[in-house]
Formats: sequence, structure tokens, C-alpha cells
Amino acid sequence: MVKLIGRTKINCAVFISGRGTNLKSIFKYSKTIKSKIDLKLVISNNYNILGVEFSKKNKINTKIIDYKKLKHAEDHIIKHLRKNNIKLICLAGFMKILSNDFIKKFKYHIINIHPSLLPKYKGLNTHERAINNGEKYSGCTVHFVTEKLDSGKIILQDRVKILKSDNPQTLAKKILILENKIYPKAIDLILSKI
Ligand code: GRF
Repeated sequence: MVKLIGRTKINCAVFISGRGTNLKSIFKYSKTIKSKIDLKLVISNNYNILGVEFSKKNKINTKIIDYKKLKHAEDHIIKHLRKNNIKLICLAGFMKILSNDFIKKFKYHIINIHPSLLPKYKGLNTHERAINNGEKYSGCTVHFVTEKLDSGKIILQDRVKILKSDNPQTLAKKILILENKIYPKAIDLILSKI
């Protein structure tokens, strides 16, 4: 669990690769009076994405990481994390796999949002698989990150009904709304328990 002893707010980093709607919702939460985080750093492996545009526009310290070599990339990330005294890492659509060494270093300090009701549908194409399997509900999950993909302890989930008329795109849209709501709630929850 993240250690919050003697401090009201902890420094947080968000890792992104794309449009950054979850980054936006975490940023919004960080600006509320009750927020327990300072959003100090955004890490991205991509330049031309909406998430980076948003981050720079809002003057968040943003680092674009060259991922040609994993070890090199993670050494850079660690340097930025240490420099900013980051205690909580939120993965929000970050499409790079973190190495086991990296995860071990920050164990219980990394959380992720996944667009399914874990433990169901780990990995990619979750909406398509849920629909094809005739599921009545799908949803999203915020969980701790461990060495095993999408398998860490669940922090919070929310669900939505799958309608007959749904396709992967419409379902993704409905679930994204839930994601943007539960991510800040999940952060608040883990930091309240300390
Ligand atoms: C979300 O659906 C999240 O669950 C998945 O990647 C997507 C990121 O969306 N891991 P955004 O970039 O936060 O809008």
C-alpha cells in the first residue's frame, strides 16, 4: 500500500499513450479541495497525442520517453520519478509493458485501469470478447499492477449492461464514461486507507 505518513498529498505520475481522457479526470480530481494527490508528472511514449497536448496545455511536467530500448527507457522514467518524488503511478492507457524489475521497484505504488470486469477479459480487445461471449454486463476495473498482466488486487469496479444493439465501439464509449468516474475514486480510496 502507498505510504502517506505525515503528508496530506502525495506526488503522482500518470503514464499515457493516447487520447488521455483518464489523465484529464485524474487532473480534474487533483485540483479539487479533497484531492490527496499532486499531479507532478506525465510520462508518454508518444508525441502527437491528445493526452500530451492536454498535459502541456495545463503545464504539467511532461516527459516523452524514447522506447527503442526498454532498459534505457525505464532508466529514464525512474530518473524522472525519483526527481519528482513520485509515490503513486497511474497507468492510463499506457501501451508499453513495464518490466518485472520496474514493477518490483514500485510494488503497490502502481495502479492501472482496465476496460473489463477483471478477472474476466485480461489483455486486449475486451469489448469484442465480452460481446461475442454473450455477457450481460461489462465494465472497468482499477487494480494494483503486479508482474502478472491485469491480475493485481482489485481496487474498484463499475459495470454497465450490454445491450443487444451494442457493438465494441458503443460499449467502449459507455465504459469510458465509467472509467473516467472510477479512476479518481479509486485513487481516493487507496489513499484513505492509510
Ligand atoms: C482506456 O479504455 C483504458 O481502460 C485502457 O486504455 C484506454 C485509455 O483511454 N487501458 P484514455 O487514453 O484514458 O482516454
